[in-house]
Amino acid sequence: MTLLSTTADSEKLGSYDINIPYLAVTAEEQARIEGGTQYPLYLPSWDPVWFKPMPPFEFSDPALRAGASKATLLRELNAKLIDMTPRMGTIVEGLDLSALDNAAKDELALLVSERKVVAFRAQGNFLDMGPTAQQQWMNYFGKPNYQPVSGSIKDHPGFHIIHRDGNKEELTSFFSQKTTSCLWHQDVSYERQPPGYVMLGLLEGPEVGGDTVFAATDEAYRRLSPSFRAMINPVKAIHSSANMINHTKALGGLVRKGAVQSVHPLVRVHPVTGERCIFINGEFITGFQGFKQAESKALSDFLLNHIITGHDFQVRVHWQPKTIVIFDNRSTLHSAIVDYFDEENGAKARHIFRLAAMAEVPVPVTE
Ligand SMILES: [Fe+2]
Repeated sequence: MTLLSTTADSEKLGSYDINIPYLAVTAEEQARIEGGTQYPLYLPSWDPVWFKPMPPFEFSDPALRAGASKATLLRELNAKLIDMTPRMGTIVEGLDLSALDNAAKDELALLVSERKVVAFRAQGNFLDMGPTAQQQWMNYFGKPNYQPVSGSIKDHPGFHIIHRDGNKEELTSFFSQKTTSCLWHQDVSYERQPPGYVMLGLLEGPEVGGDTVFAATDEAYRRLSPSFRAMINPVKAIHSSANMINHTKALGGLVRKGAVQSVHPLVRVHPVTGERCIFINGEFITGFQGFKQAESKALSDFLLNHIITGHDFQVRVHWQPKTIVIFDNRSTLHSAIVDYFDEENGAKARHIFRLAAMAEVPVPVTE
């Protein structure tokens, strides 16, 4: 049976970006989707394989090996850097990711740690490398992640594929129940060693719109009062993938991994910058240890509202064809934006791959 995304039943909708259940489509529909994409190899595949839990592993951030000047990355490759905001977000032109040696990759990790979100333009060579070489490239930055409920590329389970056909039934159904497509989250926060560096590669998308927005959680932390920071520093949050998996099971979607639960510090220390980052999301956290439900909800609502409404510590990436984005999942929250749709015409398909590099166990504040 071929499985692809569908949201025909609005009652079944999860978030637009990461948790939409994937159910069966007809062979006719499958043929239409395959005929309409420039990258059929990267359409979601649904092999019924079962992934074991990720075992603990040693991790040393490649940025810690980098020279502060980033001489290899920037001078030798003639790259041009354009800051998107004063403190976060950089566009890089004139740099071919596929050509980087290990020293340049270390410096790239440092750049991403410092700027949080980096968009690399004109990455045709990288996109043409194919999934095997792309996965190997990303493995330099951490272990691959295997998603429990989303589509990947056949024989390349580290690829998380976001493919939205953009048909108007799908989007009309979605917006009949949702006031916004925004869902702010970190990727895969429920794992013991969640992703550090995460790559998003645009394969196909609208000419205008479909941006991705990011918020800096270290700056969000600094904006809090010393009293409030002291209160949240020792708090521990419970992250779980159980709701996502149960939701998918209930709808008959494919599940490829058991539920994972981890307890992480609400404030984590970034291993490269040393900054304290609020590690919270609205997707996988089920509560805070030692808090009653209403207390957990009040604290979560306050922090998420603080981060989501803080446009003065956010950046919005405008995608262009052949753009690759690498962001730091430890110091940011992000959300997709579905604004490229009208009820008459639907929308152009949007097709993105994600490669997440699993990193350190989140480091708590010690003082
Ligand atoms: Fe995400």
